Parts: sequence; C-alpha cells; structure tokens
Amino acid sequence: MKILVIGGTGTIGKRIVEHFSKNHQVISAGRSSEDYKIDIADTKSIKRLFKKIKKSGKVDAIICAAGEAKWAPLKDLSETDFHIGLRSKLMGQVNIVRYGHKCLKRKGSITLTTGILADDPVYQTTSAAMVNGGIHSFVKAAAIEMRKKIRVNVVSSGVVMDAYHKYESYFPGHPPIPMDKMVLGYQRSVCGRVTGEIIRIYS
Ligand SMILES: NC(=O)c1ccc[n+]([C@@H]2O[C@H](COP(=O)([O-])OP(=O)(O)OC[C@H]3O[C@@H](n4cnc5c(N)ncnc54)[C@H](OP(=O)(O)O)[C@@H]3O)[C@@H](O)[C@H]2O)c1
Repeated sequence: MKILVIGGTGTIGKRIVEHFSKNHQVISAGRSSEDYKIDIADTKSIKRLFKKIKKSGKVDAIICAAGEAKWAPLKDLSETDFHIGLRSKLMGQVNIVRYGHKCLKRKGSITLTTGILADDPVYQTTSAAMVNGGIHSFVKAAAIEMRKKIRVNVVSSGVVMDAYHKYESYFPGHPPIPMDKMVLGYQRSVCGRVTGEIIRIYS
C-alpha cells in the first residue's frame, strides 16, 4: 500500500511511519516537510498537497497524527484560544476527510487521531476534549456518506509511553500506552474493514 502520514515526524507519527514502512510505501507530511508540506489549519495548504499527491499517484490510506489545541484552565481560555483547536485539530481533520478522497484510491481509508480526553478529560483540557469529541461524532456520521467506498476511522489513545514524561503530571493515575499497542489502532483502521469506528486504546 501507499500510505500518507500527516504528522509523520511527531511522537505518534514517527512510530506509525516506522511501523508501516516495514511493509508499505510511506510518505510523511507536515509543516516542516520540504517535499510534502502541509498545514492542516490552512485549507488551501491541504488542497495543495492532495493535488500534488493525486498527480504523482494516488494513495491507499491517509493517516493524520497532527492537530493542536490550547491547554489552559477554562476560566483563562479566550475565544481565540478555542479557535486554535477548532481550526487545527478539528477542522484540519474534517478537511482531510472532505478533500482526502481526491488523492485516495477507491476503497482507500482515512484515519484521524484524537485522544482519551474525549471520554476522560483532565484539568485544563476543555478545548482539547471538546475538539476530540467533535471529531468522534464527525467520523461516525461521515462514514455513512463517504464516496468511492472510502472508510474513515479515528484512533483515540491514552497518553503514549514516548510522551509520558511530558504529560504524566496532567494525567494522575492514567496508565501510559505502549507505542506498539497504540500503533495497532492504526493498523486496525488501515488494514481492516472497519469504518465509522472510534478505536479506543486506553489501557
Ligand atoms: N502524545 C500523546 O500522548 C497523545 C495521545 C493521544 C492523542 N494525541 C494526539 O495525537 C496528535 C499527535 O500528537 P504527538 O504527541 O505525536 O504530537 P507531536 O509530537 O507534537 O507531533 C506533531 C506532528 O504533527 C505535525 N503537525 C503539527 N501541527 C501541524 C499542522 N498544523 N499541520 C500539519 N502538521 C502538523 C508536526 O510536524 P510539523 O511541526 O513539521 O508540522 C509533527 O510531525 C495530537 O493531536 C495529539 O493531541 C497525543
């Protein structure tokens, strides 16, 4: 398969790239990529990359492991702060689904990324939790309407082992998710038959 990984240099993305590269052709994209530059908060940039990929040969799967949201206590979050998550993690991933079919082969798949905050939020995460929950509902509804038999799923994991040192204090009592277990969520979405699924990996 030919697989596009948006956010392929990140903590989660690089493990996805490493995993799928064993048996598939993987393209890694992100804001700092030279060949496959994309800013998911910018719709024009999404369209530009998908057009370029369509020209050079459609892909079988798109995985997005990118998207930001501001973390702060609810009382300190401005409307502008909320818009960071809405523009990047929410609409960025919604637009990947809206425009992704252009560079996807028939029966291809799109896999998005959210996180445990949708179901089990912690202090300072109202914006991130809201965006994650929105993506979960979007995926369930979008799967019904996908063209060309394209499947769409979302992987929602707990704090991953490689980032545990950074987030441990925010998630008291949450078990870190081993990286190979997290990657299996993407494997299930890309290589399985499921669609409209929220693939939860919380323990
Ligand atoms: N870390 C965790 O424990 C965890 C658990 C569950 C869910 N998540 C979610 O998974 C996603 C990735 O997390 P991570 O920890 O791997 O983050 P990360 O280490 O900061 O990596 C983010 C990746 O996405 C790219 N990126 C960031 N913003 C982008 C944008 N606007 N457009 C295109 N690419 C962009 C970055 O590359 P460039 O800077 O080059 O663009 C990088 O490759 C996030 O949405 C996060 O909320 C994380």
